[in-house]
Amino acid sequence: MKIRKAVFPVAGLGTRVLPATKAMPKEMLTIVDKPLIQYVYDEAREAGIEHFIFVTGRNKGVIEDHFDRMFELDTTLAARGNKKAEQDILARDQPGAGATSFTRQQAPLGLGHAVWCARDIVGDEPFAVVLPDELVLNTPGCLKQMIEAANKLGEKSNVLAVEAVPADMTHQYGICGVGKRTGKMFEVDGMVEKPPKGTAPSNLSITGRYILQPEIFKILETQEHGAGGEIQLTDAMIGLAKTQKFYGVEFEGERHDCGSKPGFLRANIAFGMARPDLRDGLRAEMKKYLEK
Ligand code: G1P
Repeated sequence: MKIRKAVFPVAGLGTRVLPATKAMPKEMLTIVDKPLIQYVYDEAREAGIEHFIFVTGRNKGVIEDHFDRMFELDTTLAARGNKKAEQDILARDQPGAGATSFTRQQAPLGLGHAVWCARDIVGDEPFAVVLPDELVLNTPGCLKQMIEAANKLGEKSNVLAVEAVPADMTHQYGICGVGKRTGKMFEVDGMVEKPPKGTAPSNLSITGRYILQPEIFKILETQEHGAGGEIQLTDAMIGLAKTQKFYGVEFEGERHDCGSKPGFLRANIAFGMARPDLRDGLRAEMKKYLEK
């Protein structure tokens, strides 16, 4: 099953990182020298995604600008003659013509509703959902690992990236029950969104990467509001699990929650240390600072 399209829900208000996100989308927050949204776009491109669907909201126009050509910048860099490296970076990050779509979620009704807003652009084929405030540091990226796992499964399978979290944090996530296991992959046996403390079926949290079958849209269409008064994607997946299989994949790589301030700072250090051009300088600066 070829996964050609990825949906990026980017309408959230970013209240956990105010005031940075008062006038700027949280997806444009920078880890080292790239906005978050560029990292997840790159991860999706590496995984073979051909069409990138952004579910945006008010105040998010700059995301669309980021994926457009910046004519003035291109011509100025070209005219200067010595800016080949910068030109190459811009060319490398640029989606092809027609490879992006933008649609708006007009009210903050939850992740499930945001995904549903992309139904017509996705159409009748399996697709990926990638949440930009979670980054996974690894090569191959998380989505590529999931698609490789999905390729070994039957038609109409759904795949979730999962990660073990400490038992006292399970109430912050969607949590999967674990059925038959084959290595890093297992059959999902029940899902619950943000279970009250002490009631989680396991410590395996649903992270921000999903491969879903298009039948999810029919369920989302009529769905009741769930936890937090929002239309929850997890509730729709529970509905779909009655007729289709769900699998969890424990991926390789370090997960970073960039939507929280400590997570965002940690991600900057982790991604900086992973960069051969920055590692030594960053280590030296941190050492100096910590010895102060
Ligand atoms: C959403 C999902 C949740 C998942 C989490 C991962 O929650 O509803 O199942 O575990 O993303 O980040 P949110 O973080 O939007 O509250």
